[in-house]
Amino acid sequence: MTANRGGSRTVSKPGTDDTQTASTDDVPLGSPRVSDPVIKSSNLDVYYGDTQALHEINMEIPERQVTALIGPSGCGKSTFLRSINRMNDLIDVARVDGDLYFHGKNVYDDDVDPVALRRKIGMVFQKPNPFPKSIFDNVAYGLRVQGKDDGDVEEKVKTALERAALWDEVKGQLDESGLDLSGGQQQRLCIARAIAPDPEVILMDEPASALDPVATSKIEDLVEELSREYTVAIVTHNMQQAARISDKTAVFLTGGHLVEFDDTEKIFENPESDRVEDYITGKFG
Ligand SMILES: Nc1ncnc2c1ncn2[C@@H]1O[C@H](COP(=O)(O)OP(=O)(O)O)[C@@H](O)[C@H]1O
Ligand SMILES: [Mg+2]
Repeated sequence: MTANRGGSRTVSKPGTDDTQTASTDDVPLGSPRVSDPVIKSSNLDVYYGDTQALHEINMEIPERQVTALIGPSGCGKSTFLRSINRMNDLIDVARVDGDLYFHGKNVYDDDVDPVALRRKIGMVFQKPNPFPKSIFDNVAYGLRVQGKDDGDVEEKVKTALERAALWDEVKGQLDESGLDLSGGQQQRLCIARAIAPDPEVILMDEPASALDPVATSKIEDLVEELSREYTVAIVTHNMQQAARISDKTAVFLTGGHLVEFDDTEKIFENPESDRVEDYITGKFG
C-alpha cells in the first residue's frame, strides 16, 4: 500500500479493504482498516516496576504513511514508541507484556537482535543529540556500526543528508562539528543519521518541540517527504501539527490507554469518543 499524496495529505479511505486481519476484540474505537501493517501491537502492556504505563494497546501502523501519536503528557506515547524498537530494554525497570510485530515477526522473540532491529526501525528524539563529531561522521556512524564501511560511505552519507533536506546547507562543511549547527539543522542531522543505515521505519518523539517555528516547519515538510519512502510514527503534543502532517492519528489518554485510532481527518473532524473530542477541542490536556 502506498499513500498517494501528490504534494498534500490524502487520507486513505477506511473500509476499502475487506481482508481485515486484526481481531475485532479490544480494538480501539474507529480503528482504520489497514491492509499491510508494518508494525502491529497486540494486547501490549508496559510496566515500570509495579506501575503499568500502557494497557492492552492494539494498533497497526501502516506502511509509508505518517501515523501521529497524540495525547496529554504522561499517557504513554514515548513508552509506546520505545516498545516498537525495544528501546525500553535499556530501562532497567521497564517490562513489556503482549506482542509487538514488525512485518509479522514478534520483536520480543528470543532470536531478535535489538541492535539489528533498531537499524530497521530508527529513532529521532525530542532534543537533537548529534555526537561531538563531524557532520560527516555523525551520519557515517550508523553505517559503520553496521559494518558497511566499504567505500560507498561518502555516497551514502550524501544520500542521507539529501533525504534529510540538509545537504545543500552543509555540503561545504562536512568536516565541521555537528554541534556547531543550529538546532533545526542538528535535528535534520539526527534524521540523516537515523536514515543512513536504510531503515524501514522512523520513530520520532516530538522531533520539533525544541525548535523555533521556521525550523519546525522544515521538519514538518520533511516528515511528509520521508513518508514517501519510509513508514513514520511521530509523537507530537501539537495537535495542529498532527492534523497537518499525519495520515492516521492515535489518541492516547491518561492512564496509558489508546482510546481512538483512525484516519487523521476522522479524528479531528468527527471522533467517535467524547473524551477524544474533549481532548482535541482543548477541554483538557
Ligand atoms: N524510565 C521510566 N521509569 C519509570 N517510569 C517512567 C519512565 N518513563 C516513563 N515513565 C512513566 O510512564 C508513564 C508514561 O510516560 P511517557 O511514556 O513518557 O508518556 P508521554 O510520552 O505520553 O508523556 C508516566 O507515568 C511516566 O512517569
Ligand atoms: Mg513523551
